[in-house]
Amino acid sequence: MGPLITLLLSYLFTLSAAETLATEKVDIPEEKYMNFSQITAKYGWESEHFTVTTEDGYILKLFHLKGNEGNTPVLLMHGQADSSDTFIIRGNSSIAITLANEGYDIWFGNVRGNKYSRSHVSLSPDHDIRKFWNFSFNEIALYDLPATIDFILNETGKDQLSAIGHSMGTTIFFILGSEKPEYNSKISVFIALAPIAYMSNMPPLVEEFLTRTWPAVSTILEAFGIEELLSHRGQSDDVAQIVCSLGMLGYDICEVGISSLVTGEDVNRAEPEFFQIVIGHFLSGTARKVTDHYSQISRSGRFAKFDYGLMNPVHYGMNKELLKGPPAYNLNAITMPIALMTGGKDKMGQVHNVMKLKSQLSNAYYYYYEGFNHGDFIWGNDLKTTLIPTIIDFLVKFN
Ligand SMILES: *[C@@H]1O[C@H](CO)[C@@H](O)[C@H](O)[C@H]1NC(C)=O
Ligand SMILES: *[C@@H]1O[C@H](CO)[C@@H](O)[C@H](O)[C@H]1NC(C)=O
Ligand SMILES: *[C@@H]1O[C@H](CO)[C@@H](O)[C@H](O)[C@H]1NC(C)=O
Ligand SMILES: *[C@@H]1O[C@H](CO)[C@@H](O)[C@H](O)[C@H]1NC(C)=O
Repeated sequence: MGPLITLLLSYLFTLSAAETLATEKVDIPEEKYMNFSQITAKYGWESEHFTVTTEDGYILKLFHLKGNEGNTPVLLMHGQADSSDTFIIRGNSSIAITLANEGYDIWFGNVRGNKYSRSHVSLSPDHDIRKFWNFSFNEIALYDLPATIDFILNETGKDQLSAIGHSMGTTIFFILGSEKPEYNSKISVFIALAPIAYMSNMPPLVEEFLTRTWPAVSTILEAFGIEELLSHRGQSDDVAQIVCSLGMLGYDICEVGISSLVTGEDVNRAEPEFFQIVIGHFLSGTARKVTDHYSQISRSGRFAKFDYGLMNPVHYGMNKELLKGPPAYNLNAITMPIALMTGGKDKMGQVHNVMKLKSQLSNAYYYYYEGFNHGDFIWGNDLKTTLIPTIIDFLVKFN
């Protein structure tokens, strides 16, 4: 527990110090306090939203930019503890606004439990805590993603859509294509930004956190009945900041915060002013079990279903294979074309793990962005000249 507490406290301290100092030094952009529709309107796009109800009763909010109806639909899926906002906060140079300006019909998913999708037909997120928050990215992939895709296809009258995911927003497409292979033909191309499937041999601090610290933290949280994590609602910024180390992007946010504190410079393609906008929108909520599942994958080195330990036979049937652990996702079943966009400085979606993933995919392309960290793929200030042209090439090639 020693290293854990030191790590958490140092993150907490550095981040709040960074935020305080950064706040003193920079003009706070209005986007920090604007909501989704206000930001899209500022950049020229009116938005609307729909509600999508999943087979297991979660009620999700799906955003859409109005004006490009009839053109190729593109679905954007955010990462852990994040939301649809992440794809627009860069404004005119964001992925969403740029693609909309290019004529694409842009849709934004929000997964169960985030600030827009904290709702269920019969369960309350505040009172039925153990039931409502009982999901990992496995359930997001099996229920939220297909419901979202089918809703868009029905609404647009198309047979196929293109998709872009970031971080956990890529994990769910790998699981969908494996577990519900009929969805492969509904996706013309999937662009995976900072892909996450295997998580072996991570950088020491990340590995220590995921494989040793997290299981202990999770047990304590569970004992206290804490299942919802990284939510921005009603918490002071300080409390929210503790967990800057817990989500996938937390690591980067801390680094950005620290670099803006120490150097005042744009070290990670995210300058201090933009860091303020990120703080206003990130931390949109996730479930404890999501990080449990990533922790298991990191420990076992296998991209496998949730490990229920001694209860595995109840969930997966009595089977000799279970001696190895829960069943691995069958990546060979994935047939949709996939572009794997990998960052040389990404501490979560590291090159060696992406290469291992690629070796099991039948139709994957690999791209390397040397200077990119995990957050740069959605928040970088130079996406318009670096990443987006390649994204557009893929959309054109496969539509
Ligand atoms: C954003 O805020 C405006 C003004 O308060 C409100 O009319 C609009 O419905 C909000 N949009 C969303 C998506 O919450
Ligand atoms: C965004 O870009 C468009 C087209 O270049 C420009 O007309 C508009 O003023 C920009 N919007 C903002 C808020 O910067
Ligand atoms: C959580 O989900 C698992 C798998 O679907 C199920 O076996 C378990 O009973 C659920 N727990 C609760 C508290 O709902
Ligand atoms: C499909 O779209 C039509 C027309 O918008 C709508 O009436 C219908 O309810 C939709 N069906 C589903 C399953 O979403």
